[in-house]
Amino acid sequence: MFFDSIPAVLLAITHLVQASTNVLSNLQAPTPPATSQFNWGNITATESLVYHDCYGDFQCARLQVPLDWTAEEAADNRTVQIALIKLPASVPVTDSRYGGAVILNPGGPGGSGVKTNTQTIASAGPDADEKTAKYFDIISFDPRGVKHTTPSFRCFPHFLERLTFEQELAAYGLPGSSDTALPNLWTTYRTLADSCSKRAIEAGIGEHMSTTSVARDIVEIVERHGEWREQEASRLLTSSGNSENDLLDHVKYQPGKEMVQYWGVSYGTVLGATLADLYPDRVKRTILDGVVDSFDWYKGGWSTILQDTDKNAATFAEYCWKGGPENCALYHEDGLDSIAQRFSNITKSLLQNPIGVPGTNVSSPDLITHSDLQKFLGHALYGPLYMFSPLAIVMAEIEHGKGNILAKTKRATDSRLLTTLPKECQKDGPYSRACNPGYGGSDEYMIHLAIMCSDAESKINTTKEQVEELMGDLMEQSKMFGDVWATSMIPCTQWHARPKWPYTGHLNATTAHPILFIGNTFDPVTPIRNAYKMSTGFSGSVVLHQDTAGHGSSSGVRAYFQTGELPKLDTTCHPDRVPLDGFDKEVEHPLPEGETDKALWKAITLGGEDTSARMPMFLKSHID
Ligand SMILES: *[C@@H]1O[C@H](CO)[C@@H](O)[C@H](O)[C@H]1NC(C)=O
Ligand SMILES: *[C@@H]1O[C@H](CO)[C@@H](O)[C@H](O)[C@H]1NC(C)=O
Ligand SMILES: *[C@@H]1O[C@H](CO)[C@@H](O)[C@H](O)[C@H]1NC(C)=O
Ligand SMILES: *[C@@H]1O[C@H](CO)[C@@H](O)[C@H](O)[C@H]1NC(C)=O
Ligand SMILES: *[C@@H]1O[C@H](CO)[C@@H](O)[C@H](O)[C@H]1NC(C)=O
Ligand SMILES: *[C@@H]1O[C@H](CO)[C@@H](O)[C@H](O)[C@H]1NC(C)=O
Repeated sequence: MFFDSIPAVLLAITHLVQASTNVLSNLQAPTPPATSQFNWGNITATESLVYHDCYGDFQCARLQVPLDWTAEEAADNRTVQIALIKLPASVPVTDSRYGGAVILNPGGPGGSGVKTNTQTIASAGPDADEKTAKYFDIISFDPRGVKHTTPSFRCFPHFLERLTFEQELAAYGLPGSSDTALPNLWTTYRTLADSCSKRAIEAGIGEHMSTTSVARDIVEIVERHGEWREQEASRLLTSSGNSENDLLDHVKYQPGKEMVQYWGVSYGTVLGATLADLYPDRVKRTILDGVVDSFDWYKGGWSTILQDTDKNAATFAEYCWKGGPENCALYHEDGLDSIAQRFSNITKSLLQNPIGVPGTNVSSPDLITHSDLQKFLGHALYGPLYMFSPLAIVMAEIEHGKGNILAKTKRATDSRLLTTLPKECQKDGPYSRACNPGYGGSDEYMIHLAIMCSDAESKINTTKEQVEELMGDLMEQSKMFGDVWATSMIPCTQWHARPKWPYTGHLNATTAHPILFIGNTFDPVTPIRNAYKMSTGFSGSVVLHQDTAGHGSSSGVRAYFQTGELPKLDTTCHPDRVPLDGFDKEVEHPLPEGETDKALWKAITLGGEDTSARMPMFLKSHID
């Protein structure tokens, strides 16, 4: 599953680089992960925000909203219960430095993620002028159909069935790997979508998962946040012996007028652009980073995404050459071209000569194929800063005829579910909730499909020939990944759930405050040209260009959230760190000259597992 495994791969990489953990031994003696200690089912959904402590420093709530925003209440009283998570601001709402809530969507679609590093990045740092500094609540939520939000739907009876399916799918290989791969993928994906979309409709949610509905949900969250803010301020005042009459204007709830502060990455930029178009007067701050061409997305997508992918991959040789033999395992003393040659030799050779990896007392024998390496490379392109070093290590090992590291990574990815299962799973059996984590338990990849295919209405009757044609077009954009991406829309040709509220706008608006778009020089799935294209529709918006490779960045985010100021037109940021520069979690890069905020520096450069927050869906998961 090319799309849903980015965060997992990042996690796998973390323990690939650190001491290796044994996946199967975890299954034998599972320890409940932090995330299983909170039971969403214990919270009653409410129409106002009622928070409960959860996951350490976070607070959780279940917000009840209408299932069908287009229906009169009497006509359809069904509801959705949105699982919402908040990292509270470091100041109370009554403090003049309280900046309100920033709503986050890390992409996917289907990603849910509030990470502490987002708080660090958006809120003021230690050097801030205390008069003007702003501290934010960071709020994220599981969109409709996703994870802890209910109703959810399930396409597989339980996790073992799902893993079996994923294994079979993986065994067909990526489309370019053989003549039979594409026909197999075509039929398998369509069969999956056929039955899965019916499940989604049966569950009641299938026809209500379009991006428009989620945009409306965000407005509702922001309204309810305003209501909560006023109540919270009253509570603080009364508990400190003051009168509620002392409530300052800025904490008072403004019904129907609460303003949105939003930060979306990858698919989150489709959501943000949709929101900005539908509710331009609500936009106080909006950052769209790793920008999807939303026109393309709503047309069924994937036709304007790969223009910079191969250039992104080509930077590997450059960074490897600069990094030198001590930092890049694929270094070649004859220079950049030889590194590129070495890279290409390895991938070509793997196509003809897959590598057998012997079984051990904890794992079965495995085969490392060209498709495995291609998937790994696909992941690596999302975050070169963290991933190019492991990529070099993996490729050097393959060059020596071994595939142990990649096999281990693959296994960790495939079995990520297994590693996170609580003890009760063994006791209660595969159908139990314990074995199928999440309150409702929808599968991330299926949600990705449900949202994508709801938005991509026109793909429903696409033929195999048309997919092959798209493949040809995409191969012209990217020789490395064109064929892979072309298959990503196959499920939408058989997705039966049609949205009650399709998007019909023009993706243009004059927003109350201009939008900040952010793009990287070489992004594997959201080329910066899409940021410029999207920016033309939104008055006053600016594109900030970060001169780096990878998907998403956090350049300029804090400045914009703190002051609302946009960078000057044509501003380019040059990164302080580059891939394969020899620094990582163990060997930390010193703070760059002039930089004093260590926490911000770490949050941005040492994201590590936190990068998943900036790495939504496309490959996750993924447009992570
Ligand atoms: C939450 O639910 C679980 C079972 O689903 C139960 O064991 C636990 O006691 C509940 N916790 C609270 C605080 O109600
Ligand atoms: C919702 O509507 C149905 C029929 O339209 C009715 O039977 C049901 O009681 C209503 N539920 C609530 C919670 O109002
Ligand atoms: C790549 O393969 C070719 C043909 O086998 C060989 O001549 C060349 O030396 C290889 N280059 C590198 C850098 O490995
Ligand atoms: C597998 O073998 C290694 C050493 O070869 C040993 O340390 C480990 O405990 C064994 N694991 C199991 C589950 O038997
Ligand atoms: C798809 O094809 C069916 C059957 O030919 C037709 O009824 C339907 O309108 C088509 N849908 C779209 C979106 O073209
Ligand atoms: C958006 O585009 C449509 C179609 O091109 C146009 O009719 C409309 O006036 C535009 N709206 C704004 C706010 O620019």
